[in-house]
Amino acid sequence: MCEHCKEKFYITTPIYYPSSRLHIGHAYCTVATDVMARYKRMQGADVIFLTGTDEHGQKIETKAREAGVTPQQFVDEIVEGPKGVKDLWKLMNISYDRFIRTTDDYHVAAIQKIFKAMYDKGDIYKGYYEGLYCTPCESFWTESQLVDGKCPDCGREVQPAREEAYFFRLSKYADRIQALLETPGFLEPASRVNEMINNFIKPGLEDLCVSRTSFTWGVPVDFDPGHVVYVWVDALFNYTTALGYMNDRYDDFDRFWPADVHFIGKEIVRFHSIIWPAFLMSMDLPLPKKIFGHGWLLLDGGKMSKSKGNVVDPYLLSERYGVDALRFFLLRTFPFGTDGNFSNEALINCINVDLANDLGNLVSRTTAMVQKYFGGQLPLEQLEDEQKDDELITMACELCHLYREQMEKYAFQNALAEIFKVIGRANKYIDENEPWKLAKNEENKPRLARVMYNLLETVRICAGLLTPFMPATADEIMVRIGADDRSWESMAFFGTLPRDAKVQSGPALFPRIDAAKELEELDKLRAEAQKPAPEADPLPEPLPEIAFDEFAKVEMTVVKVLACEKVKKSEKLLKFQLDDGTGTPRQILSGIAKYYEPETLVGKTLVAVTNLAPRKMMGQLSCGMLLSAERGDKLHLLMLDDAIPAGSRLC
Ligand code: ME8
Ligand code: MG
Repeated sequence: MCEHCKEKFYITTPIYYPSSRLHIGHAYCTVATDVMARYKRMQGADVIFLTGTDEHGQKIETKAREAGVTPQQFVDEIVEGPKGVKDLWKLMNISYDRFIRTTDDYHVAAIQKIFKAMYDKGDIYKGYYEGLYCTPCESFWTESQLVDGKCPDCGREVQPAREEAYFFRLSKYADRIQALLETPGFLEPASRVNEMINNFIKPGLEDLCVSRTSFTWGVPVDFDPGHVVYVWVDALFNYTTALGYMNDRYDDFDRFWPADVHFIGKEIVRFHSIIWPAFLMSMDLPLPKKIFGHGWLLLDGGKMSKSKGNVVDPYLLSERYGVDALRFFLLRTFPFGTDGNFSNEALINCINVDLANDLGNLVSRTTAMVQKYFGGQLPLEQLEDEQKDDELITMACELCHLYREQMEKYAFQNALAEIFKVIGRANKYIDENEPWKLAKNEENKPRLARVMYNLLETVRICAGLLTPFMPATADEIMVRIGADDRSWESMAFFGTLPRDAKVQSGPALFPRIDAAKELEELDKLRAEAQKPAPEADPLPEPLPEIAFDEFAKVEMTVVKVLACEKVKKSEKLLKFQLDDGTGTPRQILSGIAKYYEPETLVGKTLVAVTNLAPRKMMGQLSCGMLLSAERGDKLHLLMLDDAIPAGSRLC
């Protein structure tokens, strides 16, 4: 089919804040998006699956400062560094087509153009903002929006704030937004529509503050220095800049915009179903076809966060149970639209029941019997033709259609339930037909071959439809049953597997987990992770106050180490020759041999007290003292930037 006649499908995840490491709740939406993207590709659609990171804003600026690095270094580490966002998606087999970082040059430049265009149009104007600000959420709130006086999104304290700012005329679009929200299918699940209308439209849409002056880590407003673009303007337009809107980096905007669906979490529905469409209206762009606001994975009934420990660490969970099991669990256990309670018990139970027992057993029993009774290949001439297995065959034939109905509604849990009904039926079919009895009599061979073929076909269809959920497992099953044709079309037909396909058995796909033992192990891990950090050494006793004059009498000079060696017969002392800027090397002895190898210190820039009366140690003269920091049993020489010249005075 020609590229342009193909169905196109553009699906996105939210772009994640790299303000801390991601947890399993973040993976939830990404896995769902990946499943959808793979499902559409399987049907031959031309898919763009976009994900990325939302890297600007005060929260990141603050966190970087706390960590003592630049904001760019901070986000680079979490996005690109080891066990970062990209590593996680790779591990979890996330088949994104594009990854946008809002710090990418092309995006930043595009946001500046977009902001200017809305300003030129009169949709953005300058004013003052006074309100209540939630720093972690980067959101201003009005008094009436607060819940118990706190941020309605995260429940934390808000602070009064006033600043000169640009505003977006959100109020101008109120009627069109209301009509849009009321358009069936635009915002799903439908229950979220009333929430938006009652909480935000009915009280009256206020203009939105879209610039900040209180910090600098953002896209600069190029026509008004000091202002940075509000992080949500920057973030939302990622969905278009990543296709090439207002930039030359990509060229997919005309074909792929509007998005077919934005998958997002429920707390950002307001931004996506009200603010985002209004921005697009302002830019005269088509609107996304659908916003789907999924629920949260909760931990012990509350919000999940990485600080709750490693039970929600997707790396740990993938390592223990396998990526496919984890992907499967997330979509099999929780309806996509509502909140669900994550627990290790539920995860282990899901693996044992669905994967080890139902799917795993069906595959291993089927392949092992074909191996045992037919040497891995059914006899072409001996296959019984009679169709007396209507129920199983009908179910397997109808599965593709039922599955598709659910997938098109993003009802992943229901789609999987359809597959597992058929898997359950097939296991029952084995028990009903008792192949081990048929195998005892040569006359029954054609019947036995037919039973095995029906099972292989059922396995093939189920594995095919499981592919988007568990790509590696589905592949492995297809290899074991010798199925080459993995096309979407073949999943709607019973009987496409060649009768003489080469079947091989293999180790259990999902070994059963001893739940009690595993939970005990996890408890141990959890306790370890939550152990308080070892107590810091006690602070030294404070010294009595001194006058400034007394302090000013101490001469502290920047010195460079010219040479350093151990003092013979002393365990403690190192002897330094130092450049103190005078041209004559200065000798200082220091009792730090336990902490440093002398040769590693040559060339370092240190600080010495240079007006201390000289004294002799082990028969050698020491003219001053090197400054170091001591806490408990640790000692660090005070080292300075090598750019500071020797002889500089500390003051
Ligand atoms: O909101 N269960 O980023 P974010 C399910 N940068 N989903 C969860 C979850 C949980 N426990 N915890 C978080 C942002 N999420 C913005 C998005 S889009 C233009 C900008 C989901 O990293 C959350 O609901 O805080 C949201 O959809 C996504 O992770 C990103 O959250
Ligand atoms: Mg958030």
